[in-house]
Amino acid sequence: MITIYKEKDYEGMSRRAANIIAAHVILEPASVLGLATGGTPVGTYQRLISMYNDGDLDFSEIRTVNLDEYCGLDGTNDQSYRYFMDTNLFKHVNIDIDNTNVPDGRNTDAKAECLRYDTLIEDLGGIDLQLLGLGGNGHIGFNEPDSAFAKHTHCVTLKKDTIEANSRFFDRPEDVPTKAYTMGIGTIFMAGRILLIVSGEGKADILKEALEGPITPAVPASILQLHPDVTIVGDEAALKKLSDKLIYSL
Ligand code: F6R
Repeated sequence: MITIYKEKDYEGMSRRAANIIAAHVILEPASVLGLATGGTPVGTYQRLISMYNDGDLDFSEIRTVNLDEYCGLDGTNDQSYRYFMDTNLFKHVNIDIDNTNVPDGRNTDAKAECLRYDTLIEDLGGIDLQLLGLGGNGHIGFNEPDSAFAKHTHCVTLKKDTIEANSRFFDRPEDVPTKAYTMGIGTIFMAGRILLIVSGEGKADILKEALEGPITPAVPASILQLHPDVTIVGDEAALKKLSDKLIYSL
């Protein structure tokens, strides 16, 4: 079941997404949040920080697991996803940093690292609410278009278009890592609830393909059509190609 909220712009999308996460944190203060990095969630995290500063949110019992991390980057590297999470959210709220988890990009033993991460998620009791962004090629986490849906955490070789898209955060394109650890589609799919946020015209075609096209590993996000509890929050530009029937404009 997919429910879609249409907001005017990036600000509106961020506000709505933060409110949904906040409601979850208030109702289940010890829940496990699956988190994403990238450009899309920055505004959502800023709003969560404001709500925390206003005294409306308490993260002290929250546990988090991030979707992915670049292989080869240390958490102190300002391009690592650990660094992103620390600076965009964790350092600004009362979360216990020991309760935050990101795959370890320094671990060169991919098999061991992926097993460690899957075991950790299992030991936490699974993910209650998973926040996702949408890649321009339909990826979720770093599950790139493929011939099969990957079940577990694994090491991926990033596609050329993903490397190009991510090069905007690096000084030089050749600095973008080519490999990453990512939760599998199976891991993401097991989350109790999924919140996908999408912004901008550049995502309109792929969002339509993911939600209205066939369910195929060639468009990894298309698997969301089968999940029992998906909420999508998008701005007008990202949602403009979708047929109207599922959309709430609030
Ligand atoms: C990030 C992640 C990716 C991004 C996606 C969209 O942790 O898993 O799937 O969500 O690449 O990125 P932005 O938001 O930068 O467009």
